Amino acid sequence: MNWNPDEHYKSQKVADEYDRKRFFSPAGRVFNYLEKRTITKCFVSLPAGSIIADAPCGTGRLAEPLLAVGYRVHGLDISDEMLDVARQRLRGFQERFTCEVADVKTSRPNEPLYDAALCARVLMHFPLDQQVEFLGEGGHPQSDDGGHQP
Ligand SMILES: C[S@@+](CC[C@H](N)C(=O)[O-])C[C@H]1O[C@@H](n2cnc3c(N)ncnc32)[C@H](O)[C@@H]1O
Repeated sequence: MNWNPDEHYKSQKVADEYDRKRFFSPAGRVFNYLEKRTITKCFVSLPAGSIIADAPCGTGRLAEPLLAVGYRVHGLDISDEMLDVARQRLRGFQERFTCEVADVKTSRPNEPLYDAALCARVLMHFPLDQQVEFLGEGGHPQSDDGGHQP
């Protein structure tokens, strides 16, 4: 499939259908439950009230369980449409959830702003060398020339 992950999610239709298409089947529900449980366990040593960057946040699917156990979450995503779904979903958490449109490949804070970061389901959008660079300290991919269907 030939598509650009920087643009694909900037669609209201794609954003609205994101969760239903992936996580509403019986298998999808089990996967979603287990993924949320695993991610919550990964942060268990982090004190409540800590701020976690969710990059990319998408529809806020994985921010939700982290907010539910008392963390603050700042979501970053290149798609305002995906963040709109997140804003709606997470409005009950009020100011503990904030978000902004940002390209995670290029926007790097100069100083630490978060206690921890969650980075789920985005690396497959980068070629391998850029994945390594993205995960490396201070590095970020210079360009995105393709990727794979999530
Ligand atoms: C497969 S979704 C994953 C969303 C969420 N982490 C989850 O697991 O449900 C991929 C997300 O990455 C975002 N994305 C793709 N390229 C990005 C970039 N360069 N910077 C920020 N977000 C990006 C898309 O807009 C989309 O919301």
